[in-house]
Amino acid sequence: MTQLNELKTLSKMPCEDTVLLRVDLNVPIKNGIILDDSKIRACLPTIEFLQAKCKDTKIVLMSHLGRPDGSDDKLSLKPVQERLSELLAKEVLFCKESIGPEPKFMIREAKSGSVLLLENLRYYPEEKKGDYNFAKQLSELGDVYINDAFAVCHRNDASIAVLPELFPKLSFAGFLLDKEILLLTRTFKKPEPPFVAIIGGSKLSSKLPLIESLLEKADTVIISGLMAYTFLKARGEEVGHTEIEEEFLEQARKILLSREGRKIVLSVDQICKTQSGSITEVGFPIPDGAVACDIGPQSVELFKKILSTSKTVLWNGPLGIFEEPPFDEGSRSLIQFLDGLKATKIAGGGDTLHMVEALAGKHAFSWLSTGGGAMVEFITHMDLPSLRWLSE
Ligand code: 3PG
Repeated sequence: MTQLNELKTLSKMPCEDTVLLRVDLNVPIKNGIILDDSKIRACLPTIEFLQAKCKDTKIVLMSHLGRPDGSDDKLSLKPVQERLSELLAKEVLFCKESIGPEPKFMIREAKSGSVLLLENLRYYPEEKKGDYNFAKQLSELGDVYINDAFAVCHRNDASIAVLPELFPKLSFAGFLLDKEILLLTRTFKKPEPPFVAIIGGSKLSSKLPLIESLLEKADTVIISGLMAYTFLKARGEEVGHTEIEEEFLEQARKILLSREGRKIVLSVDQICKTQSGSITEVGFPIPDGAVACDIGPQSVELFKKILSTSKTVLWNGPLGIFEEPPFDEGSRSLIQFLDGLKATKIAGGGDTLHMVEALAGKHAFSWLSTGGGAMVEFITHMDLPSLRWLSE
């Protein structure tokens, strides 16, 4: 296990010509518009520190955006470059290639102290595969490596898990990564009980491992959002036209029947959109043709009751379609409730940050984490594989 005080932080970093800084700029973007820039802002302390400490050093930013299948204009980091330039009050250069002669040329020609952003690393399938040669080509672009992408640290992507190996003495943890590890360790090494986790969101396939991990650690796991309907269906409820993930029904059933499964709490009612487009509040069975879009008032009351005695709360994933009122009501009510609750309250993950920002709920939490999967994985194991490259 990586000890926190072993992480090599930026104070130990020498100033070299070019630093490769892996950040997580995976922000929600619709039609080229950034819907929430929390993750971009979260990178600023490290960039600004580097600019102050190593005035002549060129900073090369690397990130992924979404999960593209090859290059895809909709997942270009170009809008992020524009937002970063505004936030830093300085032009951030943009390179359409992430490896090869083009970035090499741009970096060489850039003025000292420049900041440059490479295009989405996942345009190259080698990134997700943790390909050594891809990492090698990235390594040729800089002299020092910094990982400040906490939210991706549970992945085996080349820029996270392989690239630091190529800088054995010159790999460091950025401020965001260091802060996240410190705060999560303080809170979750021995979480004050009762520890209640709220897991929402739409895709059960991506959340199942998180749920299984949390069932080991938490006293109660509230499962909500669209993905809860696969569990509800597995329990035998009629869910109307609400989308479920058939291929996970069996696994959901097994989890519900397991010993740990007794910790799971599911919604008891919901706000649905009917086929005619009207909005209605229903329990079970959900009528044919209706689609659940948010938790209903009885579920809100049930969740509040559970949370009222909790001392540690972890929230990942929205409970409803918060972008479309009135389906923001369930998440909003719980945020308001948490605001008055005396407990350590942490929310984390890209969608969750977006939700908290959209519902103006930041004040309800002790702090926010940029990581969703990474946060839960770290809480469960108190370690992440990529951290070993960043330790003394
Ligand atoms: C996130 O938003 O959780 C991180 O950017 C990781 O993204 P991924 O789940 O696509 O690896």
